[in-house]
Amino acid sequence: MAIMDLTEAIKTRRSIGKVKDDPVSSDAIKKILEAGTYAPNHYRTEPWRFFVLIGDSRKKLGGVLEDIARLENVDLVPDEWNKKAEKARNNPLRAPVIIAVGVEPGDKKNVMIKEEYAAVCSAIQNMLLTAHALGLGAIWRTGGAAYHEKVKEFFGLTPKGEMAGFIYIGYPDLTPKAVKKTDFEDYTVWMN
Ligand SMILES: Cc1cc2nc3c(=O)[nH]c(=O)nc-3n(C[C@H](O)[C@H](O)[C@H](O)COP(=O)(O)O)c2cc1C
Repeated sequence: MAIMDLTEAIKTRRSIGKVKDDPVSSDAIKKILEAGTYAPNHYRTEPWRFFVLIGDSRKKLGGVLEDIARLENVDLVPDEWNKKAEKARNNPLRAPVIIAVGVEPGDKKNVMIKEEYAAVCSAIQNMLLTAHALGLGAIWRTGGAAYHEKVKEFFGLTPKGEMAGFIYIGYPDLTPKAVKKTDFEDYTVWMN
């Protein structure tokens, strides 16, 4: 039996930027990860790489984000510079679970980098929908630091690899405001 009707999940999923500290079961995390691996991927390269951060590993990531913030904001006055660094350090503590999702392009002939990204982004959407269907709140976050060399190093990605984003996950601590969607017809040309 379905945990949530697909159309309902797609239409009710929203980015949840504020979640509770309550832990998320490893069973739920595994369901989210598994959903990622069912995404379409050209030449079956399976280019996604998942890094599950819980507990103190989030602080280690925070240390890396702090280093980046310090390097990128050297022109600020010390007070502002420290504020930026502190904010960056604390960012990963905003959710009990972060799944960092990386792209490692396959080395088969004809593989295109943009298609490897496309596959990993599809995986992330599967994961966001699954988190939502499980009653969890999730948000896909990037920001400049996500693509920084130090973040790549932290996760041990190869020179060809890159982060696609961080999925912050936890039990929702806000009700998202309703949004008005532009009618799909505005973006659609029916070509008969
Ligand atoms: C590639 C990508 C990166 C994103 N990075 C951020 C981010 O750094 N911070 C953030 O608050 N939201 C981020 N988002 C989430 C979007 O802000 C969010 O999807 C958008 O506001 C639409 O809201 P909804 O997801 O509730 O429909 C990102 C989304 C995508 C696709």
